[in-house]
Amino acid sequence: MAEAGGFADGDLEAAGLRLSVSDEVATVTLARPERRNAMTGRTWEALAHVGQTLPESVRIVIVTGEGSTFSSGIDLNMFRPGGVEGETSLMDRVADGSADDAELDRVIARYQEGFAWLRRPDIVSVAAVRGHAIGAGFQLALSCDLRILADDAQLCMKEPALGLVPDLTGTKPLVDLVGPSRAMELCLTARTVSAAEARELGLAELVVEEAQLDGAVDDLAAALLAVPREAASATKDLLQGAPARTLQEQAAAERRAQAGRLRALAAQAARG
Ligand code: ACO
Repeated sequence: MAEAGGFADGDLEAAGLRLSVSDEVATVTLARPERRNAMTGRTWEALAHVGQTLPESVRIVIVTGEGSTFSSGIDLNMFRPGGVEGETSLMDRVADGSADDAELDRVIARYQEGFAWLRRPDIVSVAAVRGHAIGAGFQLALSCDLRILADDAQLCMKEPALGLVPDLTGTKPLVDLVGPSRAMELCLTARTVSAAEARELGLAELVVEEAQLDGAVDDLAAALLAVPREAASATKDLLQGAPARTLQEQAAAERRAQAGRLRALAAQAARG
């Protein structure tokens, strides 16, 4: 059935994605291993569709890649004449003048929707990264709340080296996690960060041996699910807002959130 935005159910595979849902855990897998899980505009639209249609039961979203590479980033064919088969080439539209600034803003905003939903307070998103996470792949990992890396993981913000800026919502989490100076150094040199350095910089919560990655992700999901859903959502919301608030504002936000929690717990107790 056709969905808003022109995305039809069953098209995920063609867009290079796979989704499996098991009760409270959804796993989104980048599934073009023959292209090292390179992503196209269609992949990002498909990701947005996954976010929009996620079953309400889902509390944890795991984002991973099939094979030895998390993602080689944007499909480089998007920059070549003709673009990616079956997709309109944004580069061609810029070159022939048919995409003005407003249109570029609209299209990129649509792509960004594929990344932005991973921060929603009602879920916790976890990137499970083995091998390379380059460009858009690194930004996808940064869009997740938490990152577990295999010890062979390599992260690289390659966009500036290709004459671009990172525009898939990755710059804010990068700055928030490592600070503006380190973020600048990583982006403007487009150098590769190893798993060990990523851990040191706060880009990963955990680094494990490659063979232990899936088990480590399952353990984290189980630990996250052990906390009551509503308390987890309210706490995530509180933590996400903290950097933009003063201490007093954050204290007020804590009071408001706690009042809501106390009321909910009292109502629950009254129901027996
Ligand atoms: N877009 C399109 N095709 C790709 C991409 C990509 N981003 N990455 C890999 N492929 C293709 C290769 O062309 C190759 O195709 P072929 O089998 O037809 O020759 C196949 O996938 C396998 O790639 P290899 O390079 O052989 O794989 P390897 O494991 O040696 O290296 C790596 C993996 C490091 C990811 C390498 O492929 C690479 O550097 N890719 C390009 C990364 C890049 O510059 N991405 C853009 C970042 S900027 C952004 O995302 C906005």
